[in-house]
Amino acid sequence: MSLKLIFLGPPGAGKGTQADIISRKVSIPRIAPGDLFRKAVAEHTELGKLVQSYIDSGKLVPDEITINLMRDKLSSPEAKRGFILDGFPRNLVQAEALDRLLKELGIKLDAAIYIGVPFDRLVERSAGRRVCKQCGAAYHVKFKPPRVANVCDLCGGELYQRDDDRPETVRRRLEVYEENTRPLVDYYSRQGLLKRIDGDQPVDKVFSDIQEALGLNNNDQH
Ligand code: AP5
Repeated sequence: MSLKLIFLGPPGAGKGTQADIISRKVSIPRIAPGDLFRKAVAEHTELGKLVQSYIDSGKLVPDEITINLMRDKLSSPEAKRGFILDGFPRNLVQAEALDRLLKELGIKLDAAIYIGVPFDRLVERSAGRRVCKQCGAAYHVKFKPPRVANVCDLCGGELYQRDDDRPETVRRRLEVYEENTRPLVDYYSRQGLLKRIDGDQPVDKVFSDIQEALGLNNNDQH
């Protein structure tokens, strides 16, 4: 199955968690600029040096940098069979750039999955998040604890807390989301691509609602 999806939603809504499950289920890559930026920062690359101050303060990385990165990823052979864009686009300039890029590449999106969660829940979700240093899998101290404390269930990597998950930075990210990203809900609704999912439910239920919205059944593999 070749799915081309966008995941939209506020910080901490569960985009990464759900995109990761779908990506494994249908064997398509999850392309997440946030993860790519954090990796670049950890590896002290030129890109990492450029983006670190934006990420640490909860601001958006400049559009030109982000759009160029996504252009490379979407043009790569691994995206040919489908993809999930997790955290891109994040404003109207990026959405319009994505439309142009997809047109150039002859690709049509299947859906934009919007995961909605009430704002008062989002700070708690981000504050309790722990992420694997090695494979990037996300856990939560209360809602999704790892089997062994601070150890990734999937690869045995060490878990850490993201710098931008401090409450004051999470609040800044929520403001940035409201101002820049929320308008994309209407943008994709007008294109007839939007699927609204209630993200304020257990992870498994959110996943089954996404499957249903996409018309996937339990046996669907790629
Ligand atoms: P990014 O990494 O994309 O962060 P985000 O969008 O703020 O989203 P999060 O990763 O915080 O949340 P999520 O929705 O993926 O939730 P998750 O599944 O982890 O971006 C970081 C930074 O990079 C940005 O601030 C910006 O600087 C830069 N950036 C990224 N993209 C950019 C772009 N396009 N343009 C410019 N700059 C960009 O879940 C959160 C927690 O909740 C976890 O602990 C999880 O276990 C738990 N959880 C998940 N689902 C549930 C559930 N159903 N019930 C209970 N707990 C749950």
